[in-house]
Amino acid sequence: MEKKTMMKLGLSMRYLGYHMAAWRHPDVPADGGISFKYYLETARKAEAAKFDMIFFADGVGIRAADNPKGALSHDSKNVELEPLTLLAAIGACTSKIGLVATASTTYNEPFHIARKYASIDHISGGRAGWNVVTSWSQEEAWNFSKDEHLGYDERYERADEFVDVVKKLWDSWEEDAFIRDKASGVFYDESKLHIPHHKGKHFKVRGPLNSARTPQGRPIIVQAGSNETGRVIAAKSADVVYSAPFDISAAKEYYTDLKSRLPSYGRTRDQLLIMPGLTTYVAKTRQQAQDKFDQLQELIDPLSGLSTLYSAIGDLSAYDVDGPVPDVPAVNSIGKNLIDIAHRDNLTIRQLYKRRASGSRQLIGTAEDIVDDMEQWVTGEAADGFNLCPAILPGGLDDFVEFILPELRKRGLFRNEYESNTLRANLGLSPLAFGK
Ligand SMILES: Cc1cc2nc3c(=O)[nH]c(=O)nc-3n(C[C@H](O)[C@H](O)[C@H](O)COP(=O)(O)O)c2cc1C
Repeated sequence: MEKKTMMKLGLSMRYLGYHMAAWRHPDVPADGGISFKYYLETARKAEAAKFDMIFFADGVGIRAADNPKGALSHDSKNVELEPLTLLAAIGACTSKIGLVATASTTYNEPFHIARKYASIDHISGGRAGWNVVTSWSQEEAWNFSKDEHLGYDERYERADEFVDVVKKLWDSWEEDAFIRDKASGVFYDESKLHIPHHKGKHFKVRGPLNSARTPQGRPIIVQAGSNETGRVIAAKSADVVYSAPFDISAAKEYYTDLKSRLPSYGRTRDQLLIMPGLTTYVAKTRQQAQDKFDQLQELIDPLSGLSTLYSAIGDLSAYDVDGPVPDVPAVNSIGKNLIDIAHRDNLTIRQLYKRRASGSRQLIGTAEDIVDDMEQWVTGEAADGFNLCPAILPGGLDDFVEFILPELRKRGLFRNEYESNTLRANLGLSPLAFGK
């Protein structure tokens, strides 16, 4: 069978872009993070470009610590709009693009999540998706009456049961349960109501959900993270995985492993899409693309730069950023490795934090360079598509649309038109049978 190479594209549009200096870029509105207009305009551009979905990562609080002292006040990522509220508003002003937001299984109850995402699916006519995360910071615990964040294993065990409960709640009503027969006075068919009566280690939820079955059957489930329990949750329940591999061999290993787990849950390989994060810097020439990257790197504030080294190396704020990386004891093995690299390559502190600044995998070059790489990943079974994480918004998206999309389309790698009005169908996922 010929390998299907048409790729899926998501737009990760948190904050003002994924580069740590995004907010200082001359084309970026520094107050965009709390502006609905800013997000809506970007979402509309993504819809005009036929992206499968917009995607909001999230944390329930300010997660960065003020290290070194003062660094937090130089960081734009301290305020943002709550993503589900934002999705509901964007959903009402768009008609095709998928709407995915992150919500934590550690700091929510399953009923809240089932109900809210079901509502977004109804409001948007079948475009909602939930990115399941467990949260990772101590700072989030402090916002929820807890002194300590739950341990890794317990968090993931809770997440596994949480997702099961949410799915049961979404299956409370069969699709044709509501007959609403005015003549007979019967509103719903009792035989089509399924009360979950869930009792598990972490949750006791009777149900049913007070929302009808949603246009997609249930919202799309996305999973981000790569540990063993995360992979089990993904193989069992996710429709999309948002991953973060940095090279093609790691991506292939992950892809092969996840796809091979699906049959044991009665699922086929094409029922789970793997979409790694990707940041692109593109222009007509390689030099111009490099200049775009360099311009942002130059804008990194020294205190913000030092904060990227703090957890691994400690506080370097007493040293000259343009001097050599000092021979201090590292905090952990990542720090030791960074100091070794700095000494080997004769890096200054500034040069070292610049290397640390990029979040997801990044490609710098012409459209042909970048599409060659993307095509290799998709045809080589390392990815089914990508979650674009632009360095700046909306500029990074504008460049992608101007340069990269035409090249993808020329090679038959991306759609010209939406196939459907639902996210599930646009992702090429088959309709969901009740109870699956
Ligand atoms: C691509 C990607 C996106 C993520 N997005 C979020 C997020 O929005 N919010 C969050 O709390 N955690 C997020 N995480 C963290 C994961 O949910 C997970 O806690 C973390 O990756 C550690 O688990 P792991 O060892 O399984 O990767 C993300 C992880 C990855 C790889």
